[in-house]
Amino acid sequence: MVKYVTTPIYYVNDIPHIGHAYTTILCDMFKRYQTIKGNECLLLTGTDEHGQKIENSAKLRDKTPKEYTDEVSFKFQNLWNKFDIAYDYFVRTTNESHDSGVKRAFEEMYKNGDIYKGYYEGHYCISCETFFTKRQLVDDYFCPDCGKETNPLKEESYFFRLSKYEKKLLEWYNENPNIIMPLHKRNEVIKFVEGGLSDLSITRSGFKWGISLPPFIDDNKHIMYVWLDALLSYITPLGYGNDIPNKMYLFNDATHFVGKDILRFHAVYWPAFLMSLKLPLPKQIYTHGWWTIDGVKMSKSIGNVVNPDDIVNMYGLEVMRYFLIREVPFGQDGDFSHKALVDRANSDLSDTLGNLVNRLLGMSDKYFDLNLECENFDYLKNEIEQVSSIIRSLEIYMVNMMPHRYLEELWKIFDIANVSITKYAPWEMMKIGKVDDVKSLLVFISNILSKGALLIYPILPHTAREMMKCLKVDFSLYNKLIENDELLNKFTLTKIPPLFPKLEAQIIINRVEEKIDLKDEINISQFDKIDIRVGRIIEALDVKDSNKLLILKIDFGVNIGIKQIVSGIAKYYSPNDLKNILVCAIINLKPTKFMGILSEGMVLSTKDSKGMLRLVSVCDVEVGSKVG
Ligand code: MSP
Repeated sequence: MVKYVTTPIYYVNDIPHIGHAYTTILCDMFKRYQTIKGNECLLLTGTDEHGQKIENSAKLRDKTPKEYTDEVSFKFQNLWNKFDIAYDYFVRTTNESHDSGVKRAFEEMYKNGDIYKGYYEGHYCISCETFFTKRQLVDDYFCPDCGKETNPLKEESYFFRLSKYEKKLLEWYNENPNIIMPLHKRNEVIKFVEGGLSDLSITRSGFKWGISLPPFIDDNKHIMYVWLDALLSYITPLGYGNDIPNKMYLFNDATHFVGKDILRFHAVYWPAFLMSLKLPLPKQIYTHGWWTIDGVKMSKSIGNVVNPDDIVNMYGLEVMRYFLIREVPFGQDGDFSHKALVDRANSDLSDTLGNLVNRLLGMSDKYFDLNLECENFDYLKNEIEQVSSIIRSLEIYMVNMMPHRYLEELWKIFDIANVSITKYAPWEMMKIGKVDDVKSLLVFISNILSKGALLIYPILPHTAREMMKCLKVDFSLYNKLIENDELLNKFTLTKIPPLFPKLEAQIIINRVEEKIDLKDEINISQFDKIDIRVGRIIEALDVKDSNKLLILKIDFGVNIGIKQIVSGIAKYYSPNDLKNILVCAIINLKPTKFMGILSEGMVLSTKDSKGMLRLVSVCDVEVGSKVG
């Protein structure tokens, strides 16, 4: 059966960051793994372009939603092209075919008695595009998912009878225990559903940027809820409810990759919608954790958002792919740091793999003019057995979505090759005329690298191809070398440039600091929206469990009062240095939370010539004075 794998479709209210790249690379890995196993697999990605958040982002930039969404959607698509993501579908929720598919689904659910009109009263988080009850809020005010401010709202709405599917969903989880992975995430979902499902508000009024309701309902006050719209993007490109050639059969074997924050939408709402539409349910929902940066949540106001394009320009695509997949167990949160990436690349990619290829090429060239042939591998029996047993163990790690373990184990075959070079010292064997034994060793190492190239292909496709070029092997050998565990006894090698030259951490990190990141032009009215004021730090406090953040209490004078701002400056200032300093801060940023601590603005800072962060300070100015 043909497989179908999807990334979440990305909101276009911001440019792609490392978290988006992570999910997309995981899906690309999944597809490539299926491909080498001989299974056809199609990959969908795309952009989620409706909703209030996006309408607001466009307004902020003085653009129409369409102009703005076109611009950001292309940025995503270009980036995935540059990253060589093997996607087959790039869906945009502003496509006409998607619009008609969503309308058809609404109509179908309505006909099936699953949609009714009522009133919704609750608190709305624009950032998550989700309603919450007062009970669910943090401190009666903040979103339980993202920590941002919510707005109270009562509005007429159409509802989906989610409650009707409670029992069926629980049956589905029970009958298919491995659908939601990792398992602890499955348990969270079951608990949530067992807690009782309320019907789901699936339309919005009060803003316009969304799909209108189907004509039969004759109600233009409402537009579709962005999550109903977005989830259906998994099937509209397959021809659901529109005139695109019908490929709905692909949905018989669908795998969704999602971040932990959007699991509920995929594991509860989505299957319930599909049940209502009488369509097949997903076969697999893989849930990954979140990336933090040097231990801190990524956030524009802290200024620590990592742009994957910069990472690729600095270190290369394959290094980034390897780091993201190898560094953190799938399902857990992970920390991104330049140092960790450089260390990981240098030890695994340069020292182990790159070096092994170099050694093989060096010796094969010197002793045999790159032509290797051997009669037998008798004295390498133990090593051969170890390599076979490692390769046999690998599949289970992919099936259980543990790609970091897959790589960890796979790297052991390269270790075996490196160790056997040291152990048998071919240069010594050559001195005493054991030429055939040296040939056997080099052919054995060529076999390890050939098998390795096929097996790293899902994660490092370009490196795999380079290695195959060097070894003159290709994908048609997968069955022979991997499934049947055979060895080739002849290789003609081709020299290739060194794989993964060592990265110099300091140079790279300095380059990151030096990068000039010019922003898009804005006009004066956009700048005028930013309220920057002078304030005096009256107290600075450490944040428990963080060596990056400080809590600053800042006095902005009688009219504005005292505000609490969390700032990522702990590495550069100790709380005692900060008392009474006059700083400049943006005070009209939406309040947010870092590590559960409320932050009501952002202090301005820059970096000195040594890359040390410095607060922007002023002298002899009244607190509360406007900066602009
Ligand atoms: N548009 C919705 C998805 C609709 S799918 C029908 C959405 N978009 S998003 O752009 O906000 O997020 C897309 C994915 O990026 C989510 O899976 C989310 O978990 C992931 N990430 C966002 N920030 C992340 C990190 N810091 N780290 C890892 N992934 C994170 O949600």
